[in-house]
Amino acid sequence: MSGWLITNARLVNEGEQREGDLRIKRGRIEQIAGQLKARSGETVVDAQGKFLLPGMIDAQVHFREPGLTRKGNIASESRAAVAGGITSYLEMPNTSPPTTTRLALADKFSRASGRSTANYSFYLGASRDNLSEIKALKPTEACGIKVYMGASTGNLLVDDADTLAEIFRHAPVMLVTHCEDNATIEVNLASARKRYGNHIPAAAHAEIRSREACLKSSTLALQLAREHDARLHILHLSTAEELDLFEAGPVDGKQITGEACVHHLYFIDADYETLGNLIKCNPSIKTDRDRQALRRALRDGRLDIIATDHAPHLLREKSGNYDSAAAGLPLVQYALPMAWSLVASRTLSPEALVDKLAHNPARRFDILERGFIREGYCADLVLLDARERTVVNRQPMLSQCGWTPLAGRKLPARVAATWVNGNLVWRDGLLTGIVPGEKLQFDRPG
Ligand code: DOR
Repeated sequence: MSGWLITNARLVNEGEQREGDLRIKRGRIEQIAGQLKARSGETVVDAQGKFLLPGMIDAQVHFREPGLTRKGNIASESRAAVAGGITSYLEMPNTSPPTTTRLALADKFSRASGRSTANYSFYLGASRDNLSEIKALKPTEACGIKVYMGASTGNLLVDDADTLAEIFRHAPVMLVTHCEDNATIEVNLASARKRYGNHIPAAAHAEIRSREACLKSSTLALQLAREHDARLHILHLSTAEELDLFEAGPVDGKQITGEACVHHLYFIDADYETLGNLIKCNPSIKTDRDRQALRRALRDGRLDIIATDHAPHLLREKSGNYDSAAAGLPLVQYALPMAWSLVASRTLSPEALVDKLAHNPARRFDILERGFIREGYCADLVLLDARERTVVNRQPMLSQCGWTPLAGRKLPARVAATWVNGNLVWRDGLLTGIVPGEKLQFDRPG
């Protein structure tokens, strides 16, 4: 492999922007300098006018393998991910069977090997009866442990107080939680059923999966983490009220962190009118006030990470009435252009956005040699053209489910190229077909 020379790029990294050239050799960033001379055999990419960013590390995706592969699989969804500027992902355990044993975890790694276009790691799922698996887990064996403190797709709900306490006490690695109080949701659902019978409107999802349900569960997660001195990351926060639970400031040194997802930052309840159950997801999409609060919390550092919660379902599984419609949206293919809306609306600077998409996930999950544009680091890079738009539907849908809630929209930037481990995997709307994804390594003892 003779390498790449990316010239005249606007590098966004570690709180600053600068013009420069970057050389990739043997999968790594070899050199960053004001001006570099091309070596023989090197492929030169003139990045004039474009941003060069560290690839997004998506801390929350559902790629559906094994068992739910009618919705998606590691090969298809990781291809869609690199089109959206994602170069590494952390994948969820609500598969079939669920990833609740170390053996099931090892099976996922072997499925990804040679088939994943982006770099990967997987969560071990907590269940009501797998404490011995949790205790036996080595900190470098999984990116984290997922606890469904609220029910969603799959059957991994853990809402029993004693089991939760044991999980928080013994987790050898960071816990990530889905927080929605199930008892509250059931009461809300019963009253919606009384009111609407079998014709519950899509918009009622925000009241059924209510803000009270989120706040109650997130409060409990924080309480448990403090009581047991556990490292905790709360996934996909969706309400203004929950955000006051978090400390503002840089991610380093925090024991408890929070995440926002691109769809909660983009859609609001008014969108149920046009998109209906297509934007049904858990936690639900709520009001403009919540969206504004999420954006503010990203700015002041109460929220540290932006992820997608990519959760593909077939269109026919999203159709039908409220009860039968599956919850979740396919999002990876447009992740970075969607997230760039925060820059376009002046909510975040490009530097702050890169913090939330790449630096902070790398820091928080102790990911080795990725997430930053540094000499010697893995060359996971994205060339972003913010002068152009992504017109959704112009490019073929790469997610296997074949649809997007963004159809017809214009997003304020375009992913011009993506490199994973120094391999060009996406350029100008086309996949190159190279499949260079590697298992993520962690800088953790054990
Ligand atoms: O809406 C959702 N769908 N939220 C989740 O947390 C899970 C996901 C899925 O797996 O479908």
